[in-house]
Amino acid sequence: MSFYRTHHCAELRRTHADGDVTLSGWVASRRDHGGLVFVDLRDREGLTQVVFDPKELPGAHALRSEDVVRIRGRVAPRPPGTANPKLATGEIEVHASALDVLNRSETPPWPLDEENVNEDLRLQYRYLDLRRPAMTKNLRLRHAATSAVRAHLDGEGFVEVETPMLFKSTPEGAREYLVPSRVHPGRFYALPQSPQQFKQLLMVAGIERYYQMARCFRDEDLRADRQPEFTQVDLEMSFIEREDLYRLIEELMQRVWKTALGADLSAPFPRLSFREAMDAFGTDKPDRRYGMRLTDLTETFRASAFKVFAGVVATGGVVKAINVKGFADATQSQMDALTEQAKAAGAKGLAWIKAEGGTWKSPIVKFFNDAEKAALAERLQIEEGDLILFAADSWLSACETLGKLRAALAETLQKLGKLSLPKDVWDFLWVVDFPLMTFDAASQRHVSTHHPFTAPVAEDVPLLKTDPTKVRGQHYDLVLNGVELGGGSIRIHQPEVQRMIFEDVLKIPKDLSDSRFGYLIRALGFGAPPHGGIALGFDRLCAILCGAESIREVIAFPKNAKAQDLMTDSPGEVEPRQLRDLRLQTAKPQP
Ligand code: AMO
Ligand code: AMP
Repeated sequence: MSFYRTHHCAELRRTHADGDVTLSGWVASRRDHGGLVFVDLRDREGLTQVVFDPKELPGAHALRSEDVVRIRGRVAPRPPGTANPKLATGEIEVHASALDVLNRSETPPWPLDEENVNEDLRLQYRYLDLRRPAMTKNLRLRHAATSAVRAHLDGEGFVEVETPMLFKSTPEGAREYLVPSRVHPGRFYALPQSPQQFKQLLMVAGIERYYQMARCFRDEDLRADRQPEFTQVDLEMSFIEREDLYRLIEELMQRVWKTALGADLSAPFPRLSFREAMDAFGTDKPDRRYGMRLTDLTETFRASAFKVFAGVVATGGVVKAINVKGFADATQSQMDALTEQAKAAGAKGLAWIKAEGGTWKSPIVKFFNDAEKAALAERLQIEEGDLILFAADSWLSACETLGKLRAALAETLQKLGKLSLPKDVWDFLWVVDFPLMTFDAASQRHVSTHHPFTAPVAEDVPLLKTDPTKVRGQHYDLVLNGVELGGGSIRIHQPEVQRMIFEDVLKIPKDLSDSRFGYLIRALGFGAPPHGGIALGFDRLCAILCGAESIREVIAFPKNAKAQDLMTDSPGEVEPRQLRDLRLQTAKPQP
């Protein structure tokens, strides 16, 4: 029998009555009542009510929240009418016969059972924050998901391999964290944005099936779903086609959802092409749990008297609209905010119609003829109370503008109680057939939509040199409820194709592509097998499993939105001696 405990704090039931037990944990609360002291004792499993008679154990009076104690006592049914059905141990209490205070606690900076505590304060005292049952639960759910991933991939013949954290700087992609070398002054390692190149090299090495719970580092602007360091379920396979990968990941997700939530996912997951996703939802990560789909009205307005629309169509653009059901009562400031959002997304304006009081209110309806109005009413299914929003622009811009409005409106309507999303709906889907290349207007060159190692769809290869944006990539994104959960591709495995992509399509000068990727191209030349893989954003996956708003809720020690660790006060200053060793100078004068 352990010195500290015979049972944990969620274990005791009526059947334990009259048993002698030892419990250890933290004082969650203390109440003095009718000469007795009641303490809710908490450990990671739950709570047990302990009753002290201070005449026998005077120390009970001095117990404070978060003190750590060991108690011994006898289990007793609670007096009639005092059972707590919300608590697993709510039918019993323990009458204490001994109390050892193992350690005292300072007064916590906030009562731990309080909701809505300032997040910076929570992060500064993360060890207390994690003591809260909701956070303990998240970490344990994350662990369950990790175990399920490992068990499933082990069963599928995958080998877990660790790859270096000290890597080298590579272009293309997010900004990197650099690590100066002391031994080679003036030279730098970079922390990996992902193990992409190593996992491909492992395929050249003949490992055939690799995975890793991989830590990745990206110096990006942070948001609720982005951290500077995060975890991927990273995997790669040889001798596969896209279909093999879809099946593997669908089964993996079924395993994780079953283990973590007891939920059954149906598979195969639906597939949408990039074009279909953009056309209908204005984003490549559509949330299909609500409507507000984009409707194309280009033909309706081709010959319209409303020149804003007809003019855009004449130059090859499109007119698209969404019907925001029940939001005709949007206030002026809500309409202004929508217009601002549209403009921030690149739109030139935001035309609208409100179906209100039996008529259409709108600054533009006066330009429409009866046929155009009838077409609108029919195509958009306009009813009393609806708000219609229009975007006229190039296809991609119009889709993106309305896609952003659609997502923002879904949040607004939920807050207003006009839209409720079904709980426990897991809308997984694959988005496929992305363009391999996107033309970047700023740099006037093609950039990889995903990364430069993605293979083109075979029949599009002839277009690579003539019209790269028409080439589809063998890339796939896994999307869940509007969140990009993961992405991957079948890779280029022929060295001459990879060289052609770097030099002829991406226009990276040969000496640069040699110094940055020469080792990879060389490796492909030694019999690289056909291969492909994917990386799943594991923090995002866990946040969805836990129903959390932010991935910070499922990471033990995250950075805040300013990329700081408030608990350790990092990033911090370093000693001048350290900088001298590294032959580094900072712009700020050194003391
Ligand atoms: P990609 O860059 O799409 O692909 O990343 C894969 C997934 O990782 C998650 N993710 C993040 N999660 C939290 N914070 C971040 N800053 C962050 N950035 C990305 C997303 C994303 O879908 N090597 C390729 C994969 C491959 O081709 O196999 C890669 O890293 O959920
Ligand atoms: P105008 O005639 O330019 O004042 O525009 C009339 C309405 O159309 C205004 O509500 C504008 O915000 C809107 N509008 C202008 N350009 C566009 C566009 N490209 N797409 C959608 N609406 C637009």
